[in-house]
This record gives sequence, C-alpha cells and structure tokens, in this order.
Amino acid sequence: MHTDNNNSIDNILEENRVFPPSNEFSSKSRLNKVDQLIALKNQAKNDPITFWKTFANSEIDWIEPFQTVLDSKNAPFYEWFKEGKLNITYNCLDRHIKNGRGDKIALIWEGEPGDSRSFTYKELLIEVCKASNALKSLGVEKGDLVCIYMPMIPEAMIAMLACARIGAPHSVVFGGFSSESLKDRLVDGKAKFVITADGGFRKDKIIDLKNAVDSALDSGANEIVEKVLVVQRTRKEISMKNGRDFWWHEILKKQDHTCDPEVMKSEDRLFILYTSGSTGKPKGVVHTTGGYNLWAHLTFKWIFDIKEDDVYWCTADVGWITGHSYIVYGPLSNGSTTLMYEGVPRPSNLGAFWEVIQKYKVSIFYTAPTAIRAFMKSGREIPDLYDLTSLRLLGTVGEPINPEAWIWYKDVIGQGKCPIVDTWWQTETGGVMISPLPGVVSTKPGSATFPLPGIEIDIVNKKGYSVNSNEGGYLIVKNPWPGMMRTIHGNPDRYLKSYWNYIPCEDQNYVYFSGDGARIDDDGYVWIMGRVDDVINVSGHRLGTMEIESALVSHKSVAEAAVVGKKDNLKGESIVAFVSLEKTYNSSSELIEALKQHVIDEIGIIAKPEKIIISEALPKTRSGKIMRRILRSLASGEEISGDISTLEDSSVLEKLRKEA
Ligand code: PRX
Repeated sequence: MHTDNNNSIDNILEENRVFPPSNEFSSKSRLNKVDQLIALKNQAKNDPITFWKTFANSEIDWIEPFQTVLDSKNAPFYEWFKEGKLNITYNCLDRHIKNGRGDKIALIWEGEPGDSRSFTYKELLIEVCKASNALKSLGVEKGDLVCIYMPMIPEAMIAMLACARIGAPHSVVFGGFSSESLKDRLVDGKAKFVITADGGFRKDKIIDLKNAVDSALDSGANEIVEKVLVVQRTRKEISMKNGRDFWWHEILKKQDHTCDPEVMKSEDRLFILYTSGSTGKPKGVVHTTGGYNLWAHLTFKWIFDIKEDDVYWCTADVGWITGHSYIVYGPLSNGSTTLMYEGVPRPSNLGAFWEVIQKYKVSIFYTAPTAIRAFMKSGREIPDLYDLTSLRLLGTVGEPINPEAWIWYKDVIGQGKCPIVDTWWQTETGGVMISPLPGVVSTKPGSATFPLPGIEIDIVNKKGYSVNSNEGGYLIVKNPWPGMMRTIHGNPDRYLKSYWNYIPCEDQNYVYFSGDGARIDDDGYVWIMGRVDDVINVSGHRLGTMEIESALVSHKSVAEAAVVGKKDNLKGESIVAFVSLEKTYNSSSELIEALKQHVIDEIGIIAKPEKIIISEALPKTRSGKIMRRILRSLASGEEISGDISTLEDSSVLEKLRKEA
C-alpha cells in the first residue's frame, strides 16, 4: 500500500510512559523473549499456511485431519481447515478428562444472592451430555438453530456446550435485551428452539426472561419456535404452555450421562451472534467450528499466559462475544478453571468483585474499562479492604481505556505487580487481534500495543493508502485469520459491503475493515480511537444509532429522530437523541420519559438515551440528510466547526442551541 496524507482522523500522541513486564512475571511466562515473539511473527508472515497448520495440529484434536489449511477460492468467503472434522466440546471437555484433568475444576459459579456451585471437568461433561440428550429428546437435530436467552448461571454454559455437542448452532441473546429484540433475533435466525429461565437476578431485581420469551412468541415468533426449555432459577411463578414449554430439570433427570459428540465439519456453523452495525437491524455474525476453536484457544493461551493452577475470571456476560470466547470456549479448550459470576457491582455492594477475587483466589481478571472507571470513582478504600494478592495478570476489553484508569487498575487492583493486557477485538473477529503478550511486550497505558502473531494490520485513509505514523485512519486487517466471521446470516451482501468492499485496495484483493479508527505511534504501538461509523459504544456495549432511531420513530408521537454519541467520562459514550414530534404532540417531561421507556421496551435497558432533546426540526442538508456532525457538537456542548453552508435552514441551529 502507498502512503499519502489524506487521512480524515487526526489525533496527537500524549501518553509516553512505558511499562516493561517485571522479571518476576517474565521469568515464569511461556513466551518471554522478544526474539521468540519476532520469530513467531516472521514465521506467520512468511509462511502463514505452515504457521496455522502447525498450531491447528498441536492445539486442536481432530476426528479427521484437514488437508487444506486455507481455501481462498471464494474469498472473502474464506474456508479454514476444510476437510477437518471435530467437535469443539471434545476439545473443551472429553480430552481433558482423558489427559488426567477430570477432577480439576472447570467452572466455578458465584450466584447473585450468594449461592455458589462448581463443576469438575467430569461433572461438566455429564451435565452437557444430559442437556444434549434432553435437546435431542425435544427434537433438536444437527443444524437446527437454538436460541439461548439466559441469566449468568451454569446452565447458560451447559446449554451452549450441549448445542455444540449435538451440532445445533446456538444463538445466544443477552438477557438484558427486550422481548422485541429477542423476537427480531428469533425471526432472523429462524430459531426452532429456545432455552431460557424462569428469570434471573440482576441488581436486586428479578428479570422476567420467560415472560419476555412468551411476548416474543406472541408477537410473531410463535410460527418459528417449536419448543421452549426453561431452567428454574428464581422460582417466580411463570406460565408454562402445554406441549411447548418444558422444565429443564424435569427433562434432564431422565437423560443418559453420556452422549457422543456429533462429528462436525470444520466449516459447520458453531454459532450466530447478533451485533449492531451502522445500518439496519443487528446482524447475525456467523462463526464456524474449526477456525473459531483454534483462535479462541490460541489467543486465550497466549494473552493470558495460562498456567495449570490459574483461576481465571472474565466478568462479561455469555450473551456477548467476550463471554463466548473467554468464559466458555477459550478457557475450556485449554483445560483451565473459569469463573462465572451472576451479579454486577451495585451501590449496596461495591466490593462484590473484590470479594469474589478474594474468595476464589482469582489469578487472572478480565473486565471492561467502564467497570474500572466506576471503581475508581468510588475510591480505593473499597478494594483495599480485600486480599487481592492472588492476582497476577489483568485484562481489559470492549472500549478504549484512558491512561488514568489504566494506571489505577495497575496500582490499586494489580498492586503494581500485574501486567495489563488491553485487548482489541470484535464480535466479528472471534478472538483478540491486538494485545500485548504479557511476558514479553512493554505496555503503554491506553494502547493495545501490537497485533498478535498471524495478524497483519494497517491504518489507512478512505482511499486505502497507509497513513503516516501518528496519523489517524481506518483500522484494517490485511489477511484472513482462522477465527474470522464467515458471513452475516442470511445476508452475504452485507458481509461483503460492510467489511470487505469498504476500503479499496490495490495490491491485495480484500482487506477487512473493522469500523474503528486508530493510529500507530513511532514505536509501532496501536492506539484505538473508537468507531468511525454510526456505531456507539456505551459501557463497552455496541449499539447502532439507527437501531435507536428506529425504536424512537416507532413511537406514535415521533416524526423524526437522530441519535448521536456523547463523550462520557464513566461510560465512554452516552446516548443523546434529537427528536421532532408529530404535529398533535407537545414536548413534556412525561413524554420524554415515555420515549426513554419505549426505547427500553424496543431494545433493552442498555439502549436507554441519557438525554432526549425535542426540537421543532432537525438540521438537514438541502438533499434532506440529517447533519449528525452538527448534532454531535450540540450534544457535547462544543462549538460547531466546519462547513455549515449545506444546511437547508440555518435558523434550525439557533433553535437547537437553545433546546440542547
Ligand atoms: O470499537 C471497538 C471496541 O468494541 C468494538 C467491538 O465491539 P463488540 O463486537 O461488541 O466486541 C466487544 C468485545 C470484543 C470495536 O470495534 N473495542 C473492543 N475492544 C477494544 C475496543 N476499543 C478500544 N480498545 C479495546 N481494547
């Protein structure tokens, strides 16, 4: 690629502190020499096929070996380890039992009201087999899509693994999404089965998951969904429809304790996971078996420098990709002990996380910057009350971390001794792409450092030319990798357009566009600058502005809506909506509250606008396009800069300034 200076994003490098890994940490790491890392990167660059082949053979057990490492004939619909056959649950469970880890704890679970459970590898396999047989007894067949809409309880993980064991792809829907969002995902994926719970505990409240499933089915998904399996969690009374709804515990108790893993082709679907884009409804990102297994396994092993006696805890929800790759598949494929926590810290228990770390002697802790900023705000007195000496490595994911929070995390939670891995990746990438390897890479607060071995990235401008160091541009990946998404469910065109045809490229056929802006400093460190499309990131949750706008305009009072992200010191970004009303409606605080509630009902609590500004009109170009740039400035209280000559009616600006 060539370079020119025509980049659209500029940023100035401010953070210069460098933290090399301590000798104490490095000396015990699997990968601890710069030469070793460079050799690995060079090997991947010079001969990617041998590189991936070697790891696929050494890390993954195959029922039948693959012949072709990478098939690019139909690029960018790449195929990995094509002829290979495997079952990911064999790699996550059975093989560890065969290798003498049967009595090792696979899963520790800490419940929100203080209950807890744990499962050895042997016990987890039995539960997964029982659940697999239960699904079969309900009629689930290989290839059927099963939706999982669950709280953070062991059965969520067991359900995912049971689906994978019998070759039924899962589609996990985050339990915080509304019934309307659930319905959209059920309909788009044509899920014949739903696994849910009578409810879940969240922040001193009960979330009515089964009721939400009932509403989703009543409002259009009933023609698709045949059966619903319900886990008992809250024991709150729910309605069960005869012949359609079944209790998990009743069906499971009748099942055999063994179930042979289904023989899956490497490219058979493992799961669909919906995520937001800049246009349309959320898209079903498709991941397949062999490549995803390898990437989740390898990245987990590299980044967390995993050891046999580690107790690893990722605080994400299994409803997100982080939960899929780094609560379930990555840790289990490596035979590690993974901790799952049902709760979230809340004002009545700000020390909840630290209590869990102390109780289980957690050694690796992986969380989101938003959580760290919230802890920082409530003061170090709270974590200081707990024994955190078991920690040896800390990670962050989901959004950029500001240097101040990074340093606090290192000093207060990591007691100055734990390296921090800031991991950049996406639902689409399946696993981490950019991250320090903690035993070898010196870190800079706020930088995800370097791409992992096998991953070639660049920062380019709109025309596809590399930008200079320290200049902002679009973050692209130049080569395929095993964990990459394979397509968008039911919409291969959108897969092509959103990711592969967006950035033109002269010397290669396809480059993957991430949707993120970034820059690379003089030392080669990558600094992620956030989304460059109409996607906003609230507390590490990804939301499309268009989804929220569609939710708003579906309210009878709304004529038009435009949604923008506003910088937020705690959440990264917050949602601000500009709304114009139908003629018969007047603005009032009740209406604003009703609109906020409407968005919650349509999407879920995570999409609730922080602020709704009612305005007579929205600023538009003469061709009728809403000028979001202006709205972003207004939302943040900044001066409106840049060209406003294309504005159709400049008096709108004055009115908006008063209302914002
Ligand atoms: O903008 C980037 C941000 O999260 C987006 C991906 O969101 P999602 O698919 O929901 O996956 C989140 C968990 C992997 C990215 O496009 N993001 C993720 N990790 C980081 C990040 N931004 C900055 N630094 C990170 N470490």
